[in-house]
Amino acid sequence: MVAAAATATTANPLTCSLFPSQGLRGTTSGLQWTKRQCTRKASALTVTAKFELKPPPYPMNALEPQMSKDTFEYHWGKHHRAYVNNLNKQIEGTELDDMSLDDVVLITYNKGDPLPAFNNAAQAWNHEFFWESMKPGGGGKPSGELLQLMERDFGSFDKFVEEFKSAAATQFGSGWAWLIYKANRLDVGNAVNPCPSEEDKKLVVVKSPNAVNPLVWDYYPLLTIDVWEHAYYLDFQNRRPDYISIFMERLVSWDAVSARLEVARARAAEREIEEARKRKEEEEGNFADKEPAEIFIDGVADDSETD
Ligand SMILES: [Fe+2]
Repeated sequence: MVAAAATATTANPLTCSLFPSQGLRGTTSGLQWTKRQCTRKASALTVTAKFELKPPPYPMNALEPQMSKDTFEYHWGKHHRAYVNNLNKQIEGTELDDMSLDDVVLITYNKGDPLPAFNNAAQAWNHEFFWESMKPGGGGKPSGELLQLMERDFGSFDKFVEEFKSAAATQFGSGWAWLIYKANRLDVGNAVNPCPSEEDKKLVVVKSPNAVNPLVWDYYPLLTIDVWEHAYYLDFQNRRPDYISIFMERLVSWDAVSARLEVARARAAEREIEEARKRKEEEEGNFADKEPAEIFIDGVADDSETD
């Protein structure tokens, strides 16, 4: 998601700052870096910014015949656009309007009691991630480290596919299925793992209802499929399983998933180091705060004050 200048009222807009974003971000899990531009009004010295609907990474007919241009135009041009526009209206003038999209998603999730902007923020994030999860001529089988981890964590690539398809098909109503990288044994968002180990780090398939994004569970998203009916009805009517099969066999960009895995592992390792550093600092701080113990040598007390 690109956030871009929205209210340029001067002839001299200033582009500013890079905000960490998707999946393994400067918050907890952003996978990418999102460039956020702002426009500074020279007169009032106020900064305003809005999220911008990012164009798809390929032409809208590039996924035909597996995904029609009509579906793409309807899905991206109407639904995705509406999420972004509605989000911008909801956050305008609030403390959220200078944050990265990742942070807006995490903050508005509000520990499971979502604030009004959550659905639009998460849907904006999810759809951009979804478009980038596909490519013309996609599908097939991954390779390298991604394939090795799938074989380790699911038993085989085919078993992963079976599990992913099942999650997508059985998500009741609207929602998403995901392949995620899980680096924390604790299934609680933002929980600190006191004893991290290699066994914590694995690929897992999850599904989520409506707009929910696994970032809120402290997972690193690697792949997603949109199973809202608007994603497939024009091409497949209500045959969701057929849409899921085509997605897996002909559309998935394993290149994108592999790249996300690489970033996820790097960010998870950075985070582990950072958490260990903080723990050490806290331990040292606690030690320094303690009153020094009185020490008596050979049973002779310090009697200087009695002199
Ligand atoms: Fe959608």
